[in-house]
Amino acid sequence: MPDRITLFRTTKRVVFGIGAIEKIGAEIQQLKGKKVLVVTDPGIIQAGLLEPLTDSIKAAGLPFALFDKVEPDPRIEVVEQCAEKARAEQIDCMVGYGGGSSLDIAKVASVRLTNPGAIDALFGIDLIPQPGVPLILVPTTAGTGSEVTPIAILSDTREKLKKGIVSPYLFPETALLDPRLTVGLPPTVTALTGLDALIHAIEAYTSVNAFDLTDHLALRAIELIADNLRTAYARGEDLEARSQMLEGSLLAGIAFANAGVTAVHAFAYPIGGEFHVAHGLANSIMLPAVMRFNLLGHLAKFADIAQALGVETEGLSDKEAALEGLEAVEDLMGDLQIPRRLRDLNIPREAIPALAEGVMKVTRLLANNPRRLALEDARRIYEEAW
Ligand SMILES: [Fe+2]
Repeated sequence: MPDRITLFRTTKRVVFGIGAIEKIGAEIQQLKGKKVLVVTDPGIIQAGLLEPLTDSIKAAGLPFALFDKVEPDPRIEVVEQCAEKARAEQIDCMVGYGGGSSLDIAKVASVRLTNPGAIDALFGIDLIPQPGVPLILVPTTAGTGSEVTPIAILSDTREKLKKGIVSPYLFPETALLDPRLTVGLPPTVTALTGLDALIHAIEAYTSVNAFDLTDHLALRAIELIADNLRTAYARGEDLEARSQMLEGSLLAGIAFANAGVTAVHAFAYPIGGEFHVAHGLANSIMLPAVMRFNLLGHLAKFADIAQALGVETEGLSDKEAALEGLEAVEDLMGDLQIPRRLRDLNIPREAIPALAEGVMKVTRLLANNPRRLALEDARRIYEEAW
C-alpha cells in the first residue's frame, strides 16, 4: 500500500480491437452527437486512413465536417482555427484522429468551445473552468497515449516554448483503438513513437508518485513493447505485433497519466523547444544517460524493468540487473537504428549549459524523478548524451 492517498483517473470508455474503427458511428451516437467535427492532419488523408472513419460515421447517418490543418508540434493558433471551424459548422461532438498532435488539438479545441476568453488563461494545471463538448480520440500511432491522458502540449511561437495544459476536462469520453490503423506507419515513426511509449512506462514505473495500479500497467506495457517493437519496426504489416504495441502504448499512457513522467521527458523539453527535435527522438536520445543517472534512485524497480525487458535476472543483484536493463534498452535502440547522440542532430556542444538551465525549470516533471538532480548533474547528463 502506498503511504499516501492516491487518485486514479482514466478515459471512461476504451474500445480496443481489430476493426474497432467500424464502431465509431455507434460511439458518437452513444454520446448523443448530432454533428461531428473530425480533427486530423493531411498525412492521414494521404495515407487513405480517412475513409474507414468517415464510412462508419456516414453509415450511422451522421453529418460531419473536417478540419485537416493539424501540423507537427502544433501552434496555439491551430487550436483557434479548429475551434472556429467547429463553431461555423455548429458541431456538438469531436473526433481527434491521428498522432499525438491531432489528438491534442482536438482535446484543447473541445474545451475552447465552452471556455471563451483568452486562451492563455487555460495553460497550466487545473485552470479550465468548464468541460468541453463530447470528444472521442482515435490514435493512429502507438505512441503518445494521448487518448488516455489529461494533458495537451502546444507550441507558443512568440515565447519559443512548448506549453502544457493539464485538466481532467482533457480526458475524452471515449478512446477508440484499432491496430489496423497503425499498420502503414513507416519504420522510423514506428520506432520513435514506440520508444516514447516505452519511456512513458519506464518513467511511470520509477516515478515517486507510482502506486500499485500504475505499476501493474507500466510493467505490462514494458513487456509488450519489448516483445513487439522490433517486429513492428521490421515487418510493419504484422498485425499481432501492431496490436500488442498499441496495447502497450495504451497501458503506458494510463500509467503515466496517473504516476507522471520523470527526467527523460524533462531533458527532452529544452531540446524540442530550442532545436525542434521530434518528441520521440528527443526522449530516445536522452533515455540511456538519464536512466544511468536514475538507477541509484530505485535499484529494485530498475531491476524489475530489466526483467520486463526480457533480461534473465536470476542470481543477479538489483544493481547488476538494473545495469543489464540499461544495456537491453541500448540494444533495442541499436536495432531500431535511430540517432543516438545529440551531436547526430547537429546540436552544438556549446548549447549544453543553456539546455541544462532549461531542464531545471521543468520542475513539474523533475519533482517525480526517483533521484534528486542538481544543475551540475543536468550538465553532465547532457554531456553524456552529446
Ligand atoms: Fe512522451
